[in-house]
Amino acid sequence: MRYITQALILAAPLVEAAASSKRGLVYVSSKTPQDDSIWTTDSDLTWYYNYGSVPTSDFNGKLEFVPMLWGAPEDPENDMSFYNTVKNLVSEGNNISYVLGFNEPDGCDGSSGGSCVTAATAAQVWKKQMEPLKRDFGIKLGAPAVTGAPNGFVWLQNFFSECAILAASSDNNATNTTSCEVDFIPAHWYGDFGGLASHLGQVNGTYQNISSIWVTEFACAGCTLEASQSFANTTFEYLDRINYMGRYSYFGSFRSSVSNVGPNAAMLTEKGKLTDIGAVYLNQAMTGNIPKGSASSVAKFAGWSGIVAAAVFWSIL
Ligand SMILES: *[C@@H]1O[C@H](CO)[C@@H](O)[C@H](O)[C@H]1NC(C)=O
Ligand SMILES: *[C@@H]1O[C@H](CO)[C@@H](O)[C@H](O)[C@H]1NC(C)=O
Ligand SMILES: *[C@@H]1O[C@H](CO)[C@@H](O)[C@H](O)[C@H]1NC(C)=O
Ligand SMILES: *[C@@H]1O[C@H](CO)[C@@H](O)[C@H](O)[C@H]1NC(C)=O
Ligand SMILES: *[C@@H]1O[C@H](CO)[C@@H](O)[C@H](O)[C@H]1NC(C)=O
Ligand SMILES: *[C@@H]1O[C@H](CO)[C@@H](O)[C@H](O)[C@H]1NC(C)=O
Repeated sequence: MRYITQALILAAPLVEAAASSKRGLVYVSSKTPQDDSIWTTDSDLTWYYNYGSVPTSDFNGKLEFVPMLWGAPEDPENDMSFYNTVKNLVSEGNNISYVLGFNEPDGCDGSSGGSCVTAATAAQVWKKQMEPLKRDFGIKLGAPAVTGAPNGFVWLQNFFSECAILAASSDNNATNTTSCEVDFIPAHWYGDFGGLASHLGQVNGTYQNISSIWVTEFACAGCTLEASQSFANTTFEYLDRINYMGRYSYFGSFRSSVSNVGPNAAMLTEKGKLTDIGAVYLNQAMTGNIPKGSASSVAKFAGWSGIVAAAVFWSIL
């Protein structure tokens, strides 16, 4: 093992290629902010989102910020705070080219980080705050990011149906389109590579009128270390290659000891050192650092398999 690792470090400068400009960071704020600089040190990552509308100051001038309207406001009919926040970012000179819609609006079990928004409310907020960002500033809109579960497709289709109802109603002047304007579809996937490829094929096939997909959360959740590494290698290469893939961000920018998708998916060890997956993602030489979980995280996720909703509850409180 040691011998192979050394050989790779020596070989790295020769084989190193620029990482894909599609690659970005799902930033999950943590109790270890000293880890933040890892993502912008000797890194080819180009962009990030943090589940919120306000940038993370550590990344200012280093990564392009993509604001997210995480959930529905309390007063969806009148609230303009997301629109106004993004408008201010633009007027302050920030380069805001994209925004993301609701995070897992079909996730309503209260434990998975889903924002649990009804399709009707989502459509209303879309007309109120999202489409004006496109109209006024040319910002491209990422559709609500549903879970990878079958119900995600149902929710998203309900959303477009509600949009069509709103667009048809005579007292809505917000837009001329027959539905809600969307420029790309963010997808989430937790499972193996075959499942991810098939899921993305289904999204691409369902929404042929929308030419770009982003994968904004994905990992082999609860997998062995080897399966996690192999998934990461295969998936990064695949997402770089397929032409309808706009951007992607791997779910793992945290320490293995606090990972809610199993310790082996994490890009940092329990001590905050880059794992091999983290090194591959940042386009650095392998580290050989083995992530360890806490006893509780292993117990909690040992039974995970297949489709699971992402849990990012610590970032959204
Ligand atoms: C703003 O960001 C977009 C998307 O990354 C990029 O294409 C464009 O060149 C950037 N513009 C400036 C002025 O940096
Ligand atoms: C895109 O296609 C979906 C699925 O057929 C549809 O519901 C939606 O209204 C379409 N969007 C636009 C803007 O035409
Ligand atoms: C829609 O536009 C019409 C004609 O311009 C106007 O009379 C009406 O008040 C508008 N409705 C809303 C909800 O803004
Ligand atoms: C509707 O479309 C027309 C023609 O393309 C455009 O001039 C007008 O600004 C649009 N109205 C809205 C509310 O976007
Ligand atoms: C994605 O959809 C487009 C448009 O329908 C199609 O031409 C293309 O083959 C699809 N790509 C994949 C990999 O399924
Ligand atoms: C993943 O890719 C890296 C770099 O190319 C390689 O060193 C490593 O052996 C691969 N791991 C697996 C499990 O395929």
